[in-house]
Amino acid sequence: MYLSTTLLAAATLLPSTLAQATFQRSSKRGLVFISSTKTPQDNEVWVESGSDLTWYYNYAATPSTTYNNLSQSDFEFVPMLFTAPSSTSDTSFLDGVKQLISGGTNISHVLTFNEPDGTTSTGGSNIDPTLAATTWIREVEPLRKLGVKTGAPAVTGSQGGFTWLSSFFSACASQGTNCTADFIPIHWYGNFEGLASHIGQVSGTYPNTSIWVTEFALNDASLSDSQSFFNSSAEYLDRLTSVDRYSYFGSFRSSVSNVGPNAAMLDQKGRLTDIGSWYLGGAATNNVPSSSSASKPAFSSMWTATAFVFAAIWIC
Ligand SMILES: *[C@@H]1O[C@H](CO)[C@@H](O)[C@H](O)[C@H]1NC(C)=O
Ligand SMILES: *[C@@H]1O[C@H](CO)[C@@H](O)[C@H](O)[C@H]1NC(C)=O
Ligand SMILES: *[C@@H]1O[C@H](CO)[C@@H](O)[C@H](O)[C@H]1NC(C)=O
Ligand SMILES: *[C@@H]1O[C@H](CO)[C@@H](O)[C@H](O)[C@H]1NC(C)=O
Ligand SMILES: *[C@@H]1O[C@H](CO)[C@@H](O)[C@H](O)[C@H]1NC(C)=O
Repeated sequence: MYLSTTLLAAATLLPSTLAQATFQRSSKRGLVFISSTKTPQDNEVWVESGSDLTWYYNYAATPSTTYNNLSQSDFEFVPMLFTAPSSTSDTSFLDGVKQLISGGTNISHVLTFNEPDGTTSTGGSNIDPTLAATTWIREVEPLRKLGVKTGAPAVTGSQGGFTWLSSFFSACASQGTNCTADFIPIHWYGNFEGLASHIGQVSGTYPNTSIWVTEFALNDASLSDSQSFFNSSAEYLDRLTSVDRYSYFGSFRSSVSNVGPNAAMLDQKGRLTDIGSWYLGGAATNNVPSSSSASKPAFSSMWTATAFVFAAIWIC
């Protein structure tokens, strides 16, 4: 019984292992860049030759030094106004972006307010919609007038996100300004059906507005569920004309992942996982992510070796 199951597994494993199928490529694909200071060599992986990624953001207003030698047309940097500065006369985000533009960096899009409806302990900016509106009018509206496309505040995927966003637009209107967003960023942690339904709800709420999915993953799930989610989502986002861009979470090692090891694009040794390689347009690597940084024999590579042995027998 055990043997025949193994033989069957070996047979189904063969085609993808030998064919080294690459994942579909897409110009929509970008990077949520989580810089690593402990293992800085990881930062280079995303832009190595053959990478499919066309743009990135790093939650900050200025480009990452790692990518200083890349041009906007190769790897477009999208600045983000992460939160509202404490001073209501602070225009450092606006000034910084204008300085980048006058220095010759072609900034064509900006992102605003990371998870303003979320707590700071989970990476949110936790700000009041009225304060966000005042800040947007001061720091973001002038950029729109310069032709820079602006992303609406990047709320969480919870129902509270819709309430927050609606309050934000109302607060702008009551201050006499239409805070017009050129695109709506979406964050999603959960299964594929949930992601598709959430995109539908955003499209229903803000018709004809383009969507960027700027954080998404199936968190804390098994490797096979994580990979199925990734495949279905990437295929769906590539197909949907309402989605202009997307960036998968995340660009870090499985051993430091805050969304579970199997969502990570690097394994505990900093090598691309299958998802990581597919995301860059490459083939499966068979590197199995682990939450532990200690190297231990990977179950799956033993299993693959076993499968090959049986496959060899089977072919003979
Ligand atoms: C940019 O620098 C990195 C490493 O510092 C290098 O791998 C890459 O090839 C460089 N890219 C260009 C376009 O010069
Ligand atoms: C700036 O980037 C935008 C978007 O990628 C592009 O449409 C535009 O042509 C670029 N402008 C220049 C001067 O390169
Ligand atoms: C905001 O947009 C609405 C609907 O397009 C329009 O009626 C209103 O005049 C605009 N308000 C301002 C201050 O531009
Ligand atoms: C959305 O676009 C469609 C097709 O261009 C148009 O018929 C419809 O009126 C638009 N809806 C809104 C709310 O602008
Ligand atoms: C995901 O896509 C890759 C590349 O096409 C394929 O090899 C793999 O079997 C798929 N995995 C799942 C679980 O769909």
